[in-house]
Amino acid sequence: MPNFKAKYIKNLTLPISVGEVEFKFKTKTQLGKTLVYTSINNSSFFIELNEKNNEFVVKIDKLTKITDLALMQKALEAFEKTFCDEIISKAYHYNKFKELASNVISSPKDFKELINSLDNAYLEIGFGSGRHLLYQAKNNPQNTYIGIEIHKPSLIQVSKLAKDLNNIYLLDFDARIAIKELNNSCLNGIYLHFPVPWDDAPYRRVVSNEFKNECERVLKENGFFELRSDSLMYAEYTKNIFSDLDYDYFKNKDARIISKYESRWLKMNKDIYDFVCYVRNKKNLNQEIINQKINFKINFNKLNFIKHIDEDFFLKISRIYECDNAKIIQIAYGGFDTPSSSYLLCKENEEFEFLFHDFCPNTLNLKAFIKLKEFLQ
Ligand SMILES: C[S@@+](CC[C@H](N)C(=O)[O-])C[C@H]1O[C@@H](n2cnc3c(N)ncnc32)[C@H](O)[C@@H]1O
Repeated sequence: MPNFKAKYIKNLTLPISVGEVEFKFKTKTQLGKTLVYTSINNSSFFIELNEKNNEFVVKIDKLTKITDLALMQKALEAFEKTFCDEIISKAYHYNKFKELASNVISSPKDFKELINSLDNAYLEIGFGSGRHLLYQAKNNPQNTYIGIEIHKPSLIQVSKLAKDLNNIYLLDFDARIAIKELNNSCLNGIYLHFPVPWDDAPYRRVVSNEFKNECERVLKENGFFELRSDSLMYAEYTKNIFSDLDYDYFKNKDARIISKYESRWLKMNKDIYDFVCYVRNKKNLNQEIINQKINFKINFNKLNFIKHIDEDFFLKISRIYECDNAKIIQIAYGGFDTPSSSYLLCKENEEFEFLFHDFCPNTLNLKAFIKLKEFLQ
C-alpha cells in the first residue's frame, strides 16, 4: 500500500480541492490516528495519518482502498504537497505507475453501479490469463462480461488484451467480498473455472455455503453458476453445496475454449469436471428478511465498542471516530468466512449512512444489523 513518512503535518483546514483531488473532512485524532475523507475521479477513500514517535505515517486506509493504485498515489502526492513538511521516507512513486485502462473498475461500489446499469451481465471469478472471458466477450457482443481477479498482473495483462472490446470490465478484488456488494437478481451467469482447490485450507475456497447463498441472491431467475475444475474433490464439494438447485454434472465435456490451466491438466491426461446449476425459483429466497430496513437512528448514549459472536454471524465495533458534528463507526460484521467491514456516518437524531459503499443485504449481514439495532437504537 502506498505510504510516506513526514516529520510535520500542517493544520488540516478542510474542505479543500487540490487539482482533481478533494479533501472533504477529517475525523478528530484518536489514539494517534486521523482519517481524511478523500475523493478523486468519482472514487472515495480515507487517507490515514498515524502519529508515532514524533513522526507521521500517511497511507491509504486498508478498508476503503480502491483498485486504481494510480489514483490513490495521486491523492497521496496532493496530500504530501499541500499539508506535509520534511518528508522522511516515501514508498510510492506516482510517475512510475500507469493509470489503469478504462475497462478497469476502481471499487466494488462502481462494480455494483455498473452491473445495475446492465441488462445482460455475466461474472467470471478468477479469470487468470483471461482466455475464457475474452472468448465470451468477443463471441457475445450483446452481453457484458465482468472479470474479478485478485492477481494484479493478470488484471493488467487482460485489461490490455481487452482494450478493443467494449463489453469487458475488470475488478481486482476478492470475489467473495465483491459479490456481497451486488443487488438481488442482477446477473445472468457466474463462471468459476479452475479455482484453486485449497484441499488443506477449505476456508480459502471461493465456494462455500455463504457463496452459494450469494449466488442464489444475485442471479436472475434461470441464471446459472458454472464450475469447471480438474479436482474431483472440489467438484463434488461444490455439487453438495449447490445440491438443492437444478444442476447438470459432466465429465470431460468439450470446452468452448481451453484455458491456460486446463491445457496444463489436459497434457497430464487429467479428467475435467463441469458442474452447472440454475436458480429456477427466486421466491425461495427469504424476501421478508431481505426487505428488512436496516438504517436506524443510533442512540449516542448507547454507542460503545461491541463484540458480539452469534451462532453463524458476528458483529464488532472496533473504532469510533469523532468528527465536528458526527461520529464515524468502523464496524466488522457478517459470516465468519466472509466478513464485511463498513464505516457508518452517524449524526445525532438522524439515521446513519454507509460511507464509501452501500450495505449488502445478505442474510448474515442482515442478522448482524438487526443485532446492532438491538444494541444501539
Ligand atoms: C488456478 S487459477 C485459474 C485461472 C483461470 N480461470 C483459468 O482457468 O486458467 C485461479 C485464479 O483465481 C484467482 N482467485 C483466487 N481466489 C480468488 C478470489 N477470492 N477472488 C478473485 N480471484 C481469485 C487467482 O488469482 C487465480 O488467478
